This record gives sequence, C-alpha cells and structure tokens, in this order.
Amino acid sequence: MITNLVEYKQQYRESNLEPEEFWTKQASTLLWKKKWDRVLEFDFYKPEVKWFIGGKLNITENCIDRHLTARAHQTAILWESNDPSEPSRKITYQQLSVEVNRAANMLKANGIQKGDRVCIYMPMVPETAFALLACARVGAVHSVVFAGFSAGSLVDRINDSNCKMVLTADGAYRGDKRIDLKSIVDEALKKCPSVDKCIVLNRTNLSVSMQPVRDLWWHEEIRKTSDVCVAEEMDAEDLLFILYTSGSTGKPKGMVHTCGGYAVYTNYTFKNVFQYKEGQTFWCTADVGWITGHSYIIYGPLSAGATTLMFEGVPSWPDMGRFWHVIEKHKVNIFYTAPTAIRSLEKAPLSFVEKYDLSSLQVLGSVGEPINEEAWHWYDKNIGKGNCPIVDTWWQTETGGIMISPLAGITKTKPAFATLPLPGVQPAIMDEAGNEIEGNNVEGRLTIKFPWPSMARTIYGDHQRFKDTYFSTFPGKYFTGDGCKRDEDGYYRITGRVDDIIIVSGHNMGTAEIESAIDEHSAVCESAVVGFPHDIKGQGVYAFVVTYDPVHEPIHLRNEIKDVVSKIIGPIAKPDKIQFVSGLPKTRSGKIMRRILRKVAEGETSNLGDTTTLLDPAIVEEIKKGAIS
Ligand code: WT7
Repeated sequence: MITNLVEYKQQYRESNLEPEEFWTKQASTLLWKKKWDRVLEFDFYKPEVKWFIGGKLNITENCIDRHLTARAHQTAILWESNDPSEPSRKITYQQLSVEVNRAANMLKANGIQKGDRVCIYMPMVPETAFALLACARVGAVHSVVFAGFSAGSLVDRINDSNCKMVLTADGAYRGDKRIDLKSIVDEALKKCPSVDKCIVLNRTNLSVSMQPVRDLWWHEEIRKTSDVCVAEEMDAEDLLFILYTSGSTGKPKGMVHTCGGYAVYTNYTFKNVFQYKEGQTFWCTADVGWITGHSYIIYGPLSAGATTLMFEGVPSWPDMGRFWHVIEKHKVNIFYTAPTAIRSLEKAPLSFVEKYDLSSLQVLGSVGEPINEEAWHWYDKNIGKGNCPIVDTWWQTETGGIMISPLAGITKTKPAFATLPLPGVQPAIMDEAGNEIEGNNVEGRLTIKFPWPSMARTIYGDHQRFKDTYFSTFPGKYFTGDGCKRDEDGYYRITGRVDDIIIVSGHNMGTAEIESAIDEHSAVCESAVVGFPHDIKGQGVYAFVVTYDPVHEPIHLRNEIKDVVSKIIGPIAKPDKIQFVSGLPKTRSGKIMRRILRKVAEGETSNLGDTTTLLDPAIVEEIKKGAIS
C-alpha cells in the first residue's frame, strides 16, 4: 500500500516503466488457484487486451473464503434499511460465506452453469450482494439492471445478452415510495424468450402473481440448499459481469468485465485511494445497479476485508438529515457519494447536519460527475469539518475502477480537480487533429494510452462497436469521451463529456436514447435533446420537440411526453424542460446543429456562433424566443 507521496511517485514511475512487474506485485496479493503464465498481451488497434493470461481464480474466494481465518466474525456487510425504524443487519464474513454458497447452490439447482447470463433486478438489500457473489461463485455472468429502469429497458438488456434467469424481489422501498418490481419483471418477461426462471425475494410482502414453473420464491429455494459450493475455477479472462451503459447513439452498450484484472484493480484502488485501514467502515452511497456499486460496495471493499455499508434508502427521506444520521449511527469512517447528492443536501438547512456527530469520518469521496467548487467547499467544511481529505475520483463504467484521483491524505487536493492518475494509468490529452498535447496548462480530450487491468474488454456481442466507440477517434488510444485540462501542477480537471452523453444526477444518459423515447409519442414528429446546467442534478434534460399538429394544451402534452420517457427508459430520463418548436436547426445535409440548441438551453441567446450553414436560419429566432429559462 502507498503511504506517502514519495511512494506514490515511485509506484507511478515503476508502473510506467515496468508495468508487468508492477501489476505482478499487485496481483500477487490476491488468492489465485493457478498463477498466470504471462501478465499482459494487448493491441489497442484491434483492440484486444488480456491480463494475467492462464491465471485461474474465483473472485469470491478473494472476497469471502480468504477472510475466514482472520475475520470470520467481523461484519462484512452492514445494511441500513430505507425505514430508519427497521433494525439494521450485520452480516459477518462467516455468514456471508454461508449465504453466498447457498445462493450459488440455488442458482445451480435451477439450471445455471458457468458462462450463463443472469439478470439481477433487485433492491438495495444484502441478498442482492449475495446474488452477485453467487453468480461469480458458479461462474455465471451477472448483468445487474438498476431497479429504477422501466420494463422496456429491462427487456432490451435481458435480450441483448440472452439472460437465462432473472433474480428480483416482489417490491422495493425508496423513500416514501414502493416500487412493484415483480410486476415490472412480469411485463418485461413477456418479451424475453431466453428467461426460463425467475427467483423472487420477498422484501415488501406485496402480493404478486407467480407464474408456475417459471417463478420461484427465494426463501423456498434457499431452504433446500447446502451451504457448501465449491468455487468454480475461472480463467482470468472469463467474463465476470456485463453492465449496460448509455451510448451517444443507439442502444445501451453491454460493457464486459473479466475476472482477473477486475479483481486486482478494484482491490488495489479501493485500498490506495481511500487509504482503507483494517477495521474501518466504508460507505459508498451508490446503487449496486451502477458500476460504482459493483466496484466499491461489493468487490473492492470485500476483497480487502472491509466492512461495507449498504443503504437501501435515499438521502432525503424521512428528512434531509438521513445520510448524516446513518454516519452517526454506524460510525462511518469513509464516505463516498455523488456531487448531485451533496448539492441537494447543501440546499437544506445546516441544522440537519449539525444534529449529528460526524466525528467518525476520516475520508470523503466524490464520484460520477464534476464536483463544482462550491459543493466541494461545503462538503469539506460541513461534513469533513476541514479534517477529511476529499478524493474526487474520475472513472467510468468502462474503466471498471478509479483512474484519476487523489490518494486520501497523500495527494494535496484542489477543489474540482481529480488531481493525478493512479499508478498504472497513462492519460494523454489530445487535440482535435489527433495529436497528443504534452506539457502542462493544456486542455483537450482525455485518452488513456496504455491498458490497465480492469478495463472493459468489449461490448457484449458487438466488438466492432467497441472499437468504433473507444479506439477509432484516436487510433491506438482508449478515448474516454471526456474533455479535460491539465494545470500547472500536472493536475487533471475533468470538464465533462464532449459527445452526446449527458450526466444527470450522476447518471449517464444518451441524448439519442431519450429522443427516440420522446418520438414514440404519437403527436411527436421529431425531437432533439441536450443538457443544460442544473443546480442540483449537474445537468438537466432539455428537449426541443416538433409536433405534427399545433400544440393546444402544452402542459398536458408535456406531461404525456414525460410519462412516455419514464415508461420507456425510466423516471431518471424524464425531460426537465420541453420546448415545442416548429422545426430544428439543421444543416443542408440534414444534421441537427446541437451546438445551437445547447447554447439556447444554457440560456445564451446572443452569441450563437455561425448559423449561416443552416437550412432555415429563421428557425433559430423562433427557438430563441421560446426558450424556457
Ligand atoms: C462519466 C462516466 C465513475 C462511476 C460512475 C459514473 C463522469 C465520473 C467524474 C469525476 C468529473 C466524472 C465522466 C465520465 N465522471 N466521475 N470525478 N469528475 N466527471 O460512471 O456512468 O460510466 O459515467 O462520468 O464524464 O466519462 P458512468
């Protein structure tokens, strides 16, 4: 583990000069069933990346079995319910072992074998963690779908990877809401021929319809199982999971992560970035449905033998003090959340913070989107009391783990800067012509020019799309889709996406995907979606909509459009603003000039740049006049 800046610099240098030796050392801290023959083979032009070739392991032996000698009775998962009056649950490593082995046997008894895909659509309860680990134990590939997505989104994801089974629950609690997960699954499964089993956890005592043969209750299935399930021997490059993320065009992309490299990198980054110390309680507030949850609720912390807190609820319920209450109650030492949560809590009276004793906190983290300076300072002062380093961690679903970040208490922080690349990460800033921009005080597009162990290997079922999306803009380099600056200290500041992806409340969304959902409304002829700066969400969704007929009841139609988007994608994609227009600004070749729409959405009406190539420049005047502020 890195303990000071000199060591960071040494490790960084070593990882660049001798990457194979460097990663050999890190990988050797894990438990392998067979050591690898070669460390790395790669070709970024093909692209192809393989780490720890010939190595065999099972990530669950690293997350569970190997801790049973030293910390069988330590809490592995500390669970806090949505409802503050429901007792929390503490699952020790010993109990985790029993639960995961049983769940693994439950999968097997229901026909799941190594390589099969299993969709997990579940609330934030410990059984969901058992579910992921059970899949990994038997070598099945999990595909977790965030339980806020609609039936339609679930169908797309299940069918894209031909899942054989769905693990779900009757319902999920989120604040004062209850979501009927099972009925969403029922609707989805009408269109999913590959699924033959659906196992349902009873979380909310909802009465649900159970289809004979296909649907089974979790508690009934678990009762039949033994608590011993030998971990499947996995090749380092076997699939561990698929996780879908939005693309700037087309359907969501199933990012493929493999067993060995992912295990090594999430373990290494968890320990080093957060400077995790034995006995500490770590709380990442993400949902397991996102990569942050996979890497830093489950795999990173558990492989390091940490106590990981899993929270079912939301920051705003029963009141805006819930996060701070949970920190006090469980004496959380490391707290990792998203800027959007910080910004919304910052708006609440400070008394919600002051009511609680936050003195257990030692390290704070931020993830998912750029953190603005104001939010950074509020977090530092009011939550960290000026005593906790803030790690602003930049990474992506595709990168599997944290890439650019301070090391807590080691790297000098700077508000809004993700600071320095971790050892093993080689960023390169590119100009639009495709040249690397060297030196400091520069700005451009962020690429990574050398492989790291947890990088996604492909897009499930579409390697060409993987190449086109990530390795074609700057041949020979991985393109992140982000813009960035490197300042005079060599510190990186991520400035945001440079493609048609917007980040709303820390969730990655393709504007094309939202547009095609809007276009499903029968009154809509076409639409264009852009992001706009939003106080709390970071970016909001602004939709320009062209209808077939004049709009007589705009409020009504707006609500209908929001409902359609909510139904097709999920409530998180609902437009914040909908402007009806008679046409979109298009070039003569028919391309929508999003640059203009972005400016209008930002509230800029004077300096729209060159509009002379537009087919119908008059449309811009109309759009400007009707802009929604
Ligand atoms: C995009 C990836 C990382 C896991 C959660 C999001 C943005 C992420 C930061 C940060 C500035 C950030 C980038 C990136 N992003 N972290 N610390 N500072 N921007 O994963 O959904 O795959 O989104 O989130 O734009 O490309 P994701």
